[in-house]
Amino acid sequence: MARMEASRHSEAVVGRSRLRSIDDVTWGAQRPEDEDHLAHRLALRSVAAYVAHEINHPLGTIANLASLLGRRINDPVIRPSELAAQIESIKLETRRAADVIKNLRVLAGGLHGHRETVNVHDLLREAICRFRRRYGKETVRIRMECRDRMLNVQAVPELLHIALYNLLINGVEAAQSASIERPKLTLRTKRTTVDQVVIDVIDNGPGVADAIKSQMFEPFVSDRAGGSGLGLAICRDVVEWHGGILSYETMMARRGSCFRIALPNE
Ligand SMILES: Nc1ncnc2c1ncn2[C@@H]1O[C@H](COP(=O)(O)OP(=O)(O)O)[C@@H](O)[C@H]1O
Ligand SMILES: [Mg+2]
Repeated sequence: MARMEASRHSEAVVGRSRLRSIDDVTWGAQRPEDEDHLAHRLALRSVAAYVAHEINHPLGTIANLASLLGRRINDPVIRPSELAAQIESIKLETRRAADVIKNLRVLAGGLHGHRETVNVHDLLREAICRFRRRYGKETVRIRMECRDRMLNVQAVPELLHIALYNLLINGVEAAQSASIERPKLTLRTKRTTVDQVVIDVIDNGPGVADAIKSQMFEPFVSDRAGGSGLGLAICRDVVEWHGGILSYETMMARRGSCFRIALPNE
């Protein structure tokens, strides 16, 4: 699929280079310690980091849910429906972890993967549901602004889900780090005149720091304590893999960040 033209927004920062391919890694091969070998070791490190980063999301949620259940094991008033919902959440998160492994070779190896017609709003709803399971209903306000509900793209849904989920997490982490009392995320979709489907993920945090803006899509670039610097690199890879562009749009009228996923319309 042809790459799309970069956003015309003059201030947009566009993600470019990619994590190296897993196919560049010669497993177990003996090679001299030259530049080539170093590149291979870096490729391996990127792949390992992708797995670690993406498996950590579901593991964190599963651990939280399990300890919640553990604390309530002797609670005489716990309702079976409540228990069932939490067990279902554990199952869903376990599936998400399995998806990461399933899609590893697709994302890191440039394989084709099975694309299907995906409704963008179904995708957004699923990402929001998952986000709610992690953050609860009250912590973050989420607003969806979607005029055209029939926006479809050709995608591997689990992969696009990873990108959206990472952008949502980044948005809330940014707002929380700036002590915004009630973080707010806005998800805005539209079809453009050049036949792109655009998904904007907007938060009310402090915006991306100037010092990091030009490199933020590179792997291992982070200014957050404990941050891996992999979320945006993974998002960019996923979006580019689908023939799209991930960009950061400067918000003129208000504070906050706007990350834009632009994909070819189906
Ligand atoms: N929504 C956002 N608002 C402000 N800064 C952001 C946002 N998303 C990403 N960033 C910046 O980009 C950096 C890289 O993000 P990411 O790749 O997800 O790594 P990490 O979240 O581990 O730091 C972050 O450390 C932060 O400085
Ligand atoms: Mg992140």
